[in-house]
Amino acid sequence: MSLLVANIGELFTNDPGLGIVHDVAVVVEDDRIAWIGPMSSAPAADSVLDADGAAVLPGFVDSHAHLVFAGDRAAEFGARMAGEAYTGGGIRTTVAATRAASDDELRRNARRLVGEALRQGTTTIEIKSGYGLSVADEQRSLRVAAEIVEETTFLGAHVVPAEYAGRPGDYVDLVCGEMVEAVAPYARWVDVFCERGAFDADQARAVLVAGAKHGLGLRLHANQLGPGPGVRLAVELGAASADHCTHLDDADVDALASSDTVATLLPGAEFSTRSPYPDGRRLLDAGVTVALATDCNPGSSYTSSMPFCIALAVREMRLTPSEAVAAATVGGATALRRTDLGRVSIGARADLIVLDAPSHLHLAYRPGVPLIRTVLHHGVPQ
Ligand code: NIG
Ligand code: FE
Repeated sequence: MSLLVANIGELFTNDPGLGIVHDVAVVVEDDRIAWIGPMSSAPAADSVLDADGAAVLPGFVDSHAHLVFAGDRAAEFGARMAGEAYTGGGIRTTVAATRAASDDELRRNARRLVGEALRQGTTTIEIKSGYGLSVADEQRSLRVAAEIVEETTFLGAHVVPAEYAGRPGDYVDLVCGEMVEAVAPYARWVDVFCERGAFDADQARAVLVAGAKHGLGLRLHANQLGPGPGVRLAVELGAASADHCTHLDDADVDALASSDTVATLLPGAEFSTRSPYPDGRRLLDAGVTVALATDCNPGSSYTSSMPFCIALAVREMRLTPSEAVAAATVGGATALRRTDLGRVSIGARADLIVLDAPSHLHLAYRPGVPLIRTVLHHGVPQ
């Protein structure tokens, strides 16, 4: 089956040879992009989607989300907006709710959020575990995640659960032994919350090395709540991504710049914890590859909206609109080490967004406005 996306006013390709092009068309064959060229020479196809002069861009690649959980923490958010600080302590509230939920409740909630994200243009989303924190609950969290998405991440080292209070070493041993063994068939990545109050550098290293032994790729929650060793550990171990990067010193920025580790910025978390935003401009100017993601979770960032994150990154992190859109598409794909996603080029997966706007600029220029007109996912209009 072929589909012609016709009358594209502006096509945002992320293809280094093409960049942003105007008055073009795209042909999709099955789930792949097969042709890109001037509208005037567009070939015939089995069906036509008329973009009617609108902007078309790659579907968003949200490389960081925590979608397997039960309950919410709206009251915690309310308290924070009244002056309380975010410490990550609320994670244990969600762990209790998640453990008490059935598989089906977890599945339905995760699917609801994936659907919500898709309607806002997200065609790839990563899902982490991290609210189970027992062998059985982490395993079922990842089983549910793997039923729904391709990109799944084991975050057993999110915090030390209450039953291991005062015995973090024993919990790290569990994560590095029985737990990683149980989840590895359902996970593609391993992640650790490397932060004061969660896991220190030695503990994080042990978890990441154990994950790597089980064939998992590495990513890290790093330098979110304060300065620390997370970013440098990510670079040292060749992690695909260091996420948050809110508190960076010059050595952290230099380390990222001389590596393949992507800095994944999560402005929804700064928004929702009323924290200072990291300076994305500083990272880009240093030559760091930047991704933007939602961090969707019930505690620190309960948004599934990549357009919202793009608007925040432009306003608060000093990215230009085109840099923010690139970070939300090809940046996320790079953070997931995927070359078939996040770009409009021949052979890439046909994940496309048609905007209700003539240019990608409108995503930041018209914040909060639902501008996603049509989403093509695996070549299929949703
Ligand atoms: O990425 N920082 C650690 N984990 C999540 C927050 C989880 C929560 O508060 O429930 C994050 O922000
Ligand atoms: Fe996170």
